[in-house]
Amino acid sequence: MPLIPMRTMLRDARAGGYAVGYFEAWDQYSLEAVLDAAERLRAPIILGVGGVMMHQPWFNTGGLRRLAALCRATAESATVPVSLILNEVYTFEQVRQGLDWGFNAVMLGTSELPFDANVRETRRVVEAAHALGADVEGEIDQLPDASGAIGDPHGDARTDPEAAARYVAETGVDALSVAIGNVHMLTAGEATIDFAHLARLRRAVDVPFVVHGGTGFPDAAVPEAIAHGVAKFNVGTVLKRLYLDGVGKAIAALAASVDIQTAVGSRKAGDVFEAGKARMCEEVMRRLHIYGCAGRG
Ligand code: 13P
Repeated sequence: MPLIPMRTMLRDARAGGYAVGYFEAWDQYSLEAVLDAAERLRAPIILGVGGVMMHQPWFNTGGLRRLAALCRATAESATVPVSLILNEVYTFEQVRQGLDWGFNAVMLGTSELPFDANVRETRRVVEAAHALGADVEGEIDQLPDASGAIGDPHGDARTDPEAAARYVAETGVDALSVAIGNVHMLTAGEATIDFAHLARLRRAVDVPFVVHGGTGFPDAAVPEAIAHGVAKFNVGTVLKRLYLDGVGKAIAALAASVDIQTAVGSRKAGDVFEAGKARMCEEVMRRLHIYGCAGRG
């Protein structure tokens, strides 16, 4: 099935009162975990990979290109609507390559830049992407992360509504990542979501909102977030955790007389990576129900 523009998927989600998920993958097993979940539940889905956790020398010397090929082949085989995002990369060149190699949505990490420079860089991305019919997600304030490496780990950052409105108007982005109490990579406890602030943002900005830091975003807060304009949740850390747990347990359970051909890469029941994929797939399905997009694809 051909790729669906992300803006169409987000518009439909907003109109339908649900959100879609971007579940960050990193290889073929993880891409399949996400797509399998979406196909089992007939949900529209955003597939893709992210740039920031990748070893940049590898990413820049063939890694991104190979991942793009896997993403595209996986998306092309889908029987549910798919958008394909290259999420949070470091350089404009990576964006350009991602667009050339088939992603139909991109996000360049520009939010650490001063406002005017952020607008300039984002506008460049929008021009390149829109020329190819691809969409752009933007961000003005760096989302804090739970390690304390960026911002306040308690999630005190808030996207300023006026600055956000100016940013969207001046760049033409198709979706906006917002800071409303959410925190990247939060695994200990849950974020406290500031709905009053989200409502202020909704009054100022019309494009669909994206919540990064899906791992630590409370399930119970999802419906209200959707009611205030959130159309996409980004989920990463929890998926890697579950994948690793699944693979780790499968390795620990291997018999001394392990059948190596089955255990590594066979895709049969004894493939240890299939155990990670299964754990990840379960979590994606759980979230597709919570986001309300099950049955919408
Ligand atoms: P988490 O790792 O906190 O789920 O966030 C993922 C994310 O926002 C990717 O853009």
